[in-house]
Amino acid sequence: MSNHPRHLIDVDDLDDSAIETLLERACELASGAAPAHVAASVVNLFAEPSTRTRVSFELAARRLGMDVVNVDSAGSSAVKGESLADTLATVSAMGVDVVVMRQSGNGRMRELLDVPGSRPSLVNAGEGSVSHPSQALLDAATLKARGIEFSGLRVAIVGDVAHSRVAASGLRLWPRLGVSDIRVAGPTDLLPPEAPAGVEVCRDLDRAVADADVVMMLRVQRERIDQDQWPDPGDYFARWGLTRDHLEKAAPGCVVMHPGPINRGVEIDADVADGPQSLILDQVRMGVFMRMAIFEWVLGLPRSRRDAT
Ligand code: NCD
Repeated sequence: MSNHPRHLIDVDDLDDSAIETLLERACELASGAAPAHVAASVVNLFAEPSTRTRVSFELAARRLGMDVVNVDSAGSSAVKGESLADTLATVSAMGVDVVVMRQSGNGRMRELLDVPGSRPSLVNAGEGSVSHPSQALLDAATLKARGIEFSGLRVAIVGDVAHSRVAASGLRLWPRLGVSDIRVAGPTDLLPPEAPAGVEVCRDLDRAVADADVVMMLRVQRERIDQDQWPDPGDYFARWGLTRDHLEKAAPGCVVMHPGPINRGVEIDADVADGPQSLILDQVRMGVFMRMAIFEWVLGLPRSRRDAT
């Protein structure tokens, strides 16, 4: 293993070849390649609720034979006033190799890379509204595993784009993969004040979905919005909820994605969520394989060694 830990704070930390390695490796693992055996330990430090991300990081670690310890902040020394930097130094002193971290604040994770003497690789499992690289990567791997080419792909991202860390990381990843037609849509106050260059802002769902190959629906992040600003679920569904009727305007073979958790009847109709175009559970499945690939990558496992196992 490399002497210098690799970290995954956002997709910007990855060069093109690392992105390709991660996507390929996740697809290989998903199609039955033998995982590496990794003699390393991981602490999952989650300061926000999580089902699929947390379970998949844990399962991924176990499938690689890693020692895994889960800590949620309600049960950690954070409630006794310990800073994140001191928590990291503490687990580092115990020889932990990887810390998987979910945080509600924006921008603190990168600061932790400067903690003196800290050794573990840091892996971002969701940071505030700014980044969620493992989700963006697993979304891309889900498409790749189905043989969907990124170049020329039309992707619509619909819902609370402003507060979605999944959309934020995705908007940085999709163009790197060659996706050139990206649209975002949602209520004006749930769209970012400025769309990234090259991203089209659509004012209604039909326009966003028209001819799209991929429609990615997002949950309204109520935990990041003042309660008096929460949209009424019925009104929201009427305007922004994805139904089969909308999908008829999409490209033939269009697939529907959602990072979960889904709110049926709010941002997505149950018929669509459970329908033949939905990749929602494929995304969940790929989540385990992508997180295995991420552990291998941060630990600097060379391909030859992986292949030898
Ligand atoms: C997302 C998250 O936590 O950012 N979920 C996930 O990790 N799969 C999306 C969300 O909470 O809406």
